[in-house]
Amino acid sequence: MAVDRCVCHNVTLAELKAMSTKATTVDELSAKTRCCTGCGMCKPYVILMLRTGRTSFPVLPPHEAQRIAALRD
Ligand code: FES
Repeated sequence: MAVDRCVCHNVTLAELKAMSTKATTVDELSAKTRCCTGCGMCKPYVILMLRTGRTSFPVLPPHEAQRIAALRD
């Protein structure tokens, strides 16, 4: 199973990546799409997308997801 989207707001990491030339932080992407403003489970994956350019990730272990979500983007 892979994570490739914000399920709460139905926006893919590929769509967010396409916007990331103008919106370069999680907060900016959230303002445009509402990603990360529901359950918040997608936040670590959005951060990883911004850092790596990848748009699909294996499900992270909970402790790793929490560690990444706490990082600054
Ligand atoms: S999956 Fe993105 S806020 Fe819930």
